[in-house]
Amino acid sequence: YSDSQRRLIQIHEALREFYHYLLVNTENGSEGLAYLNNRGLSDETIETYQIGIAPENGQLAAQHLLNKEFSIAELQASGVFVGEERQLRDRFAGRIMFPLRNERGETVGFSGRILPGSHHANAFPDAAKYLNSPETDIFEKNTFLFNLDLAQNEARRAKELVLFEGFMDVIASHNVGVQNGVASMGTSLTNNQIKAIDKTSKQVLIAYDGDNPGQKATLRAINLIHDQRLRITINVLAFEQNLDPDEFIQKYGGDRYLQFVGNQRLTPIHFMRNYYSREYALQTDKGKIDYIQVMLQAIAKISQPVDRDIYIGEIAKDTDVSKETLLQQLSAVVGKSE
Ligand code: UTP
Ligand code: MN
Ligand code: MN
Ligand code: MN
Ligand code: MN
Repeated sequence: YSDSQRRLIQIHEALREFYHYLLVNTENGSEGLAYLNNRGLSDETIETYQIGIAPENGQLAAQHLLNKEFSIAELQASGVFVGEERQLRDRFAGRIMFPLRNERGETVGFSGRILPGSHHANAFPDAAKYLNSPETDIFEKNTFLFNLDLAQNEARRAKELVLFEGFMDVIASHNVGVQNGVASMGTSLTNNQIKAIDKTSKQVLIAYDGDNPGQKATLRAINLIHDQRLRITINVLAFEQNLDPDEFIQKYGGDRYLQFVGNQRLTPIHFMRNYYSREYALQTDKGKIDYIQVMLQAIAKISQPVDRDIYIGEIAKDTDVSKETLLQQLSAVVGKSE
């Protein structure tokens, strides 16, 4: 690190402590703490993730840092503050604060969640649910994976890394014992994030949200990972339409969640069968043809002949087209892609 990067990390560590203290030990934090407890997070989880609250008064955090002899220029470089030099305000004012740690465990940014029903939320009805730190000299978004530092060890033990969409899914999972999770911080997984996954584990379990954006993003993630040819084994958890992992836990409890994570995983091909048989009308010729086309393209990328044969048998059943015809078509697809 350069000296200025070290100072930026110190600012973030000081803010993490400040926000966390306010949440856990002061009246300012009672509403936020009740919200988190209501979502089922234990004190221990709040401690582990150093969750905090940014005061409604946006000048307090800046004042706190200036008292600690950080400079105005350093505050500006942190990305946490907005406004004129002499009146820097916390861009996260009134939000529940989640420190973003790099793979060494250092705090390099924040994500702030709006607190439903709070004074702040009522005053700004159109505010985004989550606000994230901008890119700085210590925080690069497209390589970042939430929780990578804590998940690393557990992923080595479990020989698998779980990939979530939201960091609340990581935290809620940790809270009930799934501790090898990271989050891509949204649905647009990047190639740099895939590289970081590959360094950590050769097996990944994709656990994106059950809604349409989440399922679409799952498909995209499978293809992106395959295209990088990294020999990562992929499995998928497909949640019900209106549930994300955190909501599954809220609805069914931690024990059923652990069972689901352990036993309900799909191979990428199974996930795609489910996905595309909903997308295309398989009772029509056009639907069958489109379905066969996209499934054969996926099967063509599989190297084991036995696996291919099994999947071809399944596609034959799905469409009432003979295995022989599908195999003929498959060699045409393979021919094209080589
Ligand atoms: P989700 O909307 O699925 O969030 O976005 P969530 O994890 O379920 O959050 P809760 O349960 O409502 O609190 C997934 C991820 O997308 C990013 C965040 O990183 C979030 O974790 N996101 C979402 C934003 O950056 N901004 C937003 O306004 C929304
Ligand atoms: Mn504490
Ligand atoms: Mn989502
Ligand atoms: Mn979600
Ligand atoms: Mn959620």
